[in-house]
Amino acid sequence: MISIDDTVRYVATYIDVIVLIIGILIYKEYQISSKDIALITGGSGGLGSELIKQMLSKGVQKIYNLDLKSSVERDSRIDYRRCDVGNESELKQSLDNILSELKEQNRNITILINNAGIRHSQSLLDLPDKEIHDIFNVNTFSFIWTLRKVTSNHIDTVFKQDTKIDRKLRIVNVSSILGALAPRNLSLYSATKSAIVSIHESLTQELSEYPEIRLLLVTPGQLSTGMFKDVEPSRTFLAPIISAEYLARRIVEKINVGESGVYCEPLYANFLPGIRVFPMVLQHFCRWFSEMDTKVNSNSKRGNERVDIEIER
Ligand SMILES: *[C@@H]1O[C@H](CO)[C@@H](O)[C@H](O)[C@H]1NC(C)=O
Ligand SMILES: *[C@@H]1O[C@H](CO)[C@@H](O)[C@H](O)[C@H]1NC(C)=O
Ligand SMILES: *[C@@H]1O[C@H](CO)[C@@H](O)[C@H](O)[C@H]1NC(C)=O
Ligand SMILES: *[C@@H]1O[C@H](CO)[C@@H](O)[C@H](O)[C@H]1NC(C)=O
Repeated sequence: MISIDDTVRYVATYIDVIVLIIGILIYKEYQISSKDIALITGGSGGLGSELIKQMLSKGVQKIYNLDLKSSVERDSRIDYRRCDVGNESELKQSLDNILSELKEQNRNITILINNAGIRHSQSLLDLPDKEIHDIFNVNTFSFIWTLRKVTSNHIDTVFKQDTKIDRKLRIVNVSSILGALAPRNLSLYSATKSAIVSIHESLTQELSEYPEIRLLLVTPGQLSTGMFKDVEPSRTFLAPIISAEYLARRIVEKINVGESGVYCEPLYANFLPGIRVFPMVLQHFCRWFSEMDTKVNSNSKRGNERVDIEIER
């Protein structure tokens, strides 16, 4: 039997395909090619490694991967840099090294993907101080440092040139639907993700004079990666689990046409922020119905180990 969700998904997919085709025709110059150099944080697992796979298949020249673990993908085009993105000085050093290397070779980063993230599963009151710092450092501050360095370097070098050179820079941020609605025991994770949403909104305006810088914000629902493995999905007919491979393919398709704005997946994610304008009673009902507040359990088991904090792989 075809469920409502499947039907909606088919329709949405057709619309998306049409939009993509129009995009490819109009924004041909954004197509990923062997001229492109990408930088990704947290590319060694989960959504990150899928994104790397997809970009490799589109023929990028090189991908820098900043992560604690080395890349799972084996490809000579991947330049893995061991880096704790949650450590400000280490991250800035790595970025400086990469930018000055590229400068010597007269090449530029053209795709930036902020993907690294970690999560917790305890009440705010029970979290150790160090974890609180770690979550913000990895999820929010690493974003801010990377974005500032790469974008201002791009504007200072590429946009200051008179000659007609390739000015494109596509920036993708992976946020989360939880940035719009925070479940119990995920206060900080949700806070870091909604910070990204706000910064995206504001920066899109600040950078509007540079149309070649394309900002794309991705706010996915629950992914099929290790990060939320312990969270039993609820009401999957409304909120299906998205495969990381599928999401990565869609994101790269969007990079390929230089799409900017916000990309929500699955469909319901588009409407979630609107819940906040509902009367309180209705909001409580939605939260109860979705079971969102009972799923993040600090004692939940993944295999046999307890997860409190996990690096997105
Ligand atoms: C951050 O990185 C620097 C340089 O690599 C190192 O000296 C420092 O101990 C690190 N800090 C933490 C908290 O790990
Ligand atoms: C990279 O940017 C520099 C300007 O800093 C420019 O001279 C150079 O041509 C660019 N390289 C490519 C491959 O576009
Ligand atoms: C990505 O996040 C950073 C920092 O959170 C923000 O400054 C930037 O605007 C975001 N970019 C996009 C494309 O959303
Ligand atoms: C939230 O975390 C606290 C511990 O910090 C735990 O006692 C509680 O059971 C958790 N809530 C849920 C719904 O799992």
